[in-house]
Amino acid sequence: MRPERPRRLRRDAIRPLVAETSLSPTDFIAPLFVDATATAPRPIPSMPGHERLSLDAVVERAHELEEAGVRGVIVFGIPDRKDADGSRAWADDGIVQRAVRHLDERTDLTIITDVCLCEYTEHGHCGVLAHDARKATGSMTVENDATLAALARTAGSHADAGADIVAPSAMMDGQVGAIRTALDDAGHEDIAILSYAVKYESAYYGPFREAADGAPAFGDRRHYQMDPHNRREARREVELDIDEGADMVMVKPAMTYLDIVRDIRETVSVPVAAYHVSGEYAMLVAADERGWLDREATAMEAAVSMKRAGADLIITYFAKELAQRLSGRSR
Ligand code: PBG
Ligand code: ZN
Repeated sequence: MRPERPRRLRRDAIRPLVAETSLSPTDFIAPLFVDATATAPRPIPSMPGHERLSLDAVVERAHELEEAGVRGVIVFGIPDRKDADGSRAWADDGIVQRAVRHLDERTDLTIITDVCLCEYTEHGHCGVLAHDARKATGSMTVENDATLAALARTAGSHADAGADIVAPSAMMDGQVGAIRTALDDAGHEDIAILSYAVKYESAYYGPFREAADGAPAFGDRRHYQMDPHNRREARREVELDIDEGADMVMVKPAMTYLDIVRDIRETVSVPVAAYHVSGEYAMLVAADERGWLDREATAMEAAVSMKRAGADLIITYFAKELAQRLSGRSR
């Protein structure tokens, strides 16, 4: 018996010919944080290289991304003020609405908006609070159905401003259906929904909560976000969201949930996005800063893994640098 020799195909000239996965700048979606109170970019300490941007700076960053070949951004807002209901989330002159108009007028990027209330509510939860009727002593809970109208209104205001895709992330049951109906009723039949269908209650969102000032003031999000122990439930979430009208579905986080990305890819035919979240970014950057890992190499490998697992789109804080590298525009 002749020995099998897989190494034959690992020569430099042959490797690219037999590569099963490829990445391109158009695979990436770049998150942008826009801050109503910022006049100049404000660094985010736990996310080196990222800033809370003013409206002007958002457009500058967007142009840099376009230059690198990135074609999509997802916009998060930090409002001028918060209240109990999160009313600045759907305000026509809200920060996301203004940023979307700016980007729509000045760039060719596909504009995705995050639709949630946690950055806009004083309590930092993703929906409207009410006393939990099942608990004797004043404990509060996020009311599912009362939150749907607020999310639908927010998505509508983003579409009015010029968003191409809205991405509901509150993990309220029925949110995709409520948003689809509201968009259709407002004549926004062409605006797509990217559902954060499979969003786990993860400890890896820490740096984002600092970046977007959206940490819950009490408790956690385990009554609405998914339990990391569960796998079958992810399929159920995705099936429900597609029934309600989701055009694309997301799995989040990404690196620690690649099994789920693969499951979902095999379950549905709509595009699947993976969100390489803030904590996953922070750990690679921190290790690179200590000289323990190479930032670009590990970020690229992580992105390849997500693509290999079945993601069509990758939302990542590394979008610009990876796109630059792939299009030969860095170094
Ligand atoms: C808002 C939202 C969060 C993220 C995206 N949208 C935070 C959360 O659910 O606490 C996390 C993104 C990241 O960590 O990069 N609901
Ligand atoms: Zn939220």
